[in-house]
Amino acid sequence: MLRKALHAGIIGLLINGMIGSVPTLSGQEQDNPYTTGQDIQSGEQLFGRNCSRCHGLEAGGGERGPNLRTGEFQHASTDAGLFAVISDGIPNTEMVGIGRNRSEQSVWQLVAYLRSLNSEVRVEVAGNPSIGEELYGGKGNCSSCHMIDAEGGRHGPDLSTIGDRRSPDELLSDLLTPNARVQQRWWTMRVVHQDGTEVEGLRMNEGTYSVRILDAEDNLWSFLKRDLRQSERTETSSMPAYGESFTSGELEDLVAYLYGLSRGIR
Ligand code: HEC
Ligand code: HEC
Repeated sequence: MLRKALHAGIIGLLINGMIGSVPTLSGQEQDNPYTTGQDIQSGEQLFGRNCSRCHGLEAGGGERGPNLRTGEFQHASTDAGLFAVISDGIPNTEMVGIGRNRSEQSVWQLVAYLRSLNSEVRVEVAGNPSIGEELYGGKGNCSSCHMIDAEGGRHGPDLSTIGDRRSPDELLSDLLTPNARVQQRWWTMRVVHQDGTEVEGLRMNEGTYSVRILDAEDNLWSFLKRDLRQSERTETSSMPAYGESFTSGELEDLVAYLYGLSRGIR
């Protein structure tokens, strides 16, 4: 049976809950899925309770543990590496790790918190952030997919604190080659139901028997897999590449705007 599962009013709530339940790869293989301002705050609280007695109150270093604010780590370079250090610890040192009985989410929130700390090391960018902001809302129509401060679409990651997570160079490559690294959570899917209905969109969650898809118009569809005639998964990004539609000056302005989206500044 095919049905449009829910009307728009409650979709937002449900999606919030569901994103968390999309099957994820194990921590070792992916980028951090928990990086909103709220995640960073939760990470900060977790840090206060579990880590500050060794690493100092704001991770600036204590009697028993090193400074973690420098943006560089001896034992890890990627987010996945930090995840492993925080959950498993470092053998033969006092760094014991928070343990496997913690949810992956808590560990990722700690990673997000640590990553947010080196955002104090800011670099100069050439573009004009106010022009970037106009492009973001206007010509780029970025808000149809992305949220900033709880406003916008849910078809891409929340960008409220993107400037804490990505350098200007990384932001530029996000805009030029969105397909370079796409987390599983942003894969899309196209299905054809027995009755001929075709739906394409974000794979919100997928179980053994059913799958939910959010289409471009924000309708949430729910299908039983046995009723589907066809289904294809696309592991590329639904985000367009912007190298052609923007001049290099406009790209610089967009990057300047995005880079300024930081927890520290607002
Ligand atoms: C009992 C003290 C202690 C506690 C508690 C502790 N750490 Fe550590 N941590 C250390 C020590 C000591 C090291 C350095 C190990 C080494 O390289 O010799 C370390 C290293 C690290 C590193 C790697 C730093 C680098 O440069 O690679 C990270 C990341 C880290 N800790 C995060 C955390 C987090 C997050 C928590 C809380 C969940 C935590 N630690 C709790 C003592 C502690
Ligand atoms: C059709 C939906 C869509 C539109 C329109 C869109 N994006 Fe995206 N965006 C995505 C998706 C999905 C991802 C995650 C997958 C990926 O990395 O490509 C993403 C990723 C990003 C990232 C990386 C985020 C991270 O957490 O690393 C940035 C930055 C970004 N988009 C900025 C923009 C900007 C700026 C615009 C407008 C010029 C825009 N996007 C337009 C869907 C969209």
